[in-house]
Amino acid sequence: MRVGILGSGLMGGKLGTLFARAGHEVVFSYARRRKKLEELAREAGGRARAGTPAEASAQAHALLLAVHWSRFDDVLKQAGDLAGKVVVTCSLPMNDDNSALVVGLASSGAEELAKRIPKARVVCAFNTVPSEVLFGVYEARGKGARPSLVYCGDDSGDKRVASELIRDIGFDPVDAGPLRVARYTEPFALLVGQLAYEGKEGPELAYRFERFRK
Ligand SMILES: NC(=O)c1ccc[n+]([C@@H]2O[C@H](COP(=O)([O-])OP(=O)(O)OC[C@H]3O[C@@H](n4cnc5c(N)ncnc54)[C@H](OP(=O)(O)O)[C@@H]3O)[C@@H](O)[C@H]2O)c1
Repeated sequence: MRVGILGSGLMGGKLGTLFARAGHEVVFSYARRRKKLEELAREAGGRARAGTPAEASAQAHALLLAVHWSRFDDVLKQAGDLAGKVVVTCSLPMNDDNSALVVGLASSGAEELAKRIPKARVVCAFNTVPSEVLFGVYEARGKGARPSLVYCGDDSGDKRVASELIRDIGFDPVDAGPLRVARYTEPFALLVGQLAYEGKEGPELAYRFERFRK
């Protein structure tokens, strides 16, 4: 797939690198320095390159949105027309000091995003793992049980795109349902963050769901 990265920081930089290593054609965009995007592309290898948000979105089958909530308007404006694009958001609707969700209970960041870009096809994924775990999970793929990764969205075709990307980087995709389920996955992401960053073991934390039957 051609995957445009909108926001090439901790999440976008790492996920884009892994998508490129898994064989996807990646365009890194949206950082404060063009040089950083070029370095990321060089280190990712494969068919990765640096570009503007408009270039990242132009030919993309899927876009990863990985910016702070306060940067949404800016990055979406720069990305241009997103009609028909699958936009996979890992962004959480956090306040300025990242201490609390600013949307919740009756809505979610993913649903608010979908309202802002009504012609795009929004899927919510990747926000329930700390960026620190991503390389470890990728390297461990094929060796034992995969960790889970929940995702949600309203269209089965769009969700297939997200689930392929999730699987390609070593996780077991868990379809949590329609986009409104992001009301539950976004607070869950805060719980994972709490355990990862405040726990004794360090941030390299992934989770796995198991179903027990009688
Ligand atoms: N980090 C995690 O483990 C994690 C986990 C779950 C969900 N999330 C969510 O994922 C989203 C991204 O988080 P992150 O940790 O990847 O954040 P981050 O490292 O700060 O990345 C944000 C990206 O946006 C770019 N940016 C910010 N302001 C800009 C501006 N004025 N002009 C151009 N580029 C600008 C940054 O540029 P620079 O590279 O130059 O700084 C960076 O590339 C957030 O919504 C967060 O809640 C993160």
